[in-house]
Amino acid sequence: THIPYDLSAAQKGGFETYMLKEIYEQPEAIRETLRGRISGNQIILPKLDGLDLSAIDRIYIVGCGTAYHVGIYGSTLLQRWLPISAISTPASEFRYGHPVVDEHTLCIYISQSGETADTLAALKMTNEMGAQSIAIANVLGSSISRLANVTLYTCAGPEVAVASTKAFTTQLVLITLLIIKIAEMMGRRPQEADAVLHDLKRMPEIVDDMLKKSDEVKEYAELLKDQHDAYFIGRQLDYVSVLEGALKLKEISYVHADAYYAGELKHGPIALIEQGTVVIAMATQPEVAAKTISNIEETMARGANVILITNKEQPALKFDRVMRIPEIHPTLTCIPVTILLQLLAYHTATEKGRDVDKPRNLAKSVTVE
Ligand code: G6P
Repeated sequence: THIPYDLSAAQKGGFETYMLKEIYEQPEAIRETLRGRISGNQIILPKLDGLDLSAIDRIYIVGCGTAYHVGIYGSTLLQRWLPISAISTPASEFRYGHPVVDEHTLCIYISQSGETADTLAALKMTNEMGAQSIAIANVLGSSISRLANVTLYTCAGPEVAVASTKAFTTQLVLITLLIIKIAEMMGRRPQEADAVLHDLKRMPEIVDDMLKKSDEVKEYAELLKDQHDAYFIGRQLDYVSVLEGALKLKEISYVHADAYYAGELKHGPIALIEQGTVVIAMATQPEVAAKTISNIEETMARGANVILITNKEQPALKFDRVMRIPEIHPTLTCIPVTILLQLLAYHTATEKGRDVDKPRNLAKSVTVE
């Protein structure tokens, strides 16, 4: 007898798509990325020992697409923790933007594939200008590792779906460790380092809890599937989730999604809010959550249907649709929030019958300009 064997189904390990498989692999991918890198309160990244950061006065973080969003997260942390200039720019802009780069500059490059043309070109440029460089990559031995002074690897395993999921969250984990370590090497270990490391170690379980909310998220996808537009809003570190959530939604469902700082709404975007417009709002940052909530209420007064993602303790009585993330250090909320947003994009796309693994016009790795 002939037993049919579907190789592609086998590779998806029982999941409908690679993307869903990779979403569910995140607890393990994060665990692997953390493995051996935290001991007590210390961060173990021995490759950095070869760098001399004593005279660094400027740090750039460069990447494309999802990796660029990790750069924004990283530069936000650097700005909080170090009294030096820290900027994140997409590689395609950075390489043509005449940045100030010299031997006092550190450049951090982020790329899942390690092969993205603009990212590699930017790295070659800053090498020639005398900067030191650190790469964060996922693919072992990729081109980026031959160009950077030091390459740190996320241990996410192969990512096949075009839309990045586990690469993004493992990059967030690794860049958090890297930035605390850089601050330490510059003599300024952040006060909250211990608390952040404590919660990073809990992250695989926290992500696992978020994945259990998939059915709840699916109900919210019902609201989105017939929309032409969706607006993602948040402030400070929530803005990273906002950008990533909007990117995931447009990439795989083709619903037009915009990302705004909540405080910028009244300077234009609020003109687009009408009865039934869907607004996905993030309010997980204690310093600004109340401000964001009041921005959200302004959209509700104009008829918006709001999906709010917030912390356990944030009061949200006026909201019908609330998803909560567990208690976790505010530096790290982007990771659990993104899991919910990945699921939201995923369910919206599958409801619309999209090919989530291979969205139109997109490539997994963009090796030409
Ligand atoms: C493509 C992919 C994105 C990815 C970007 C950067 O556009 O579709 O998912 O974020 O490239 O890729 P990299 O391999 O450099 O992280």
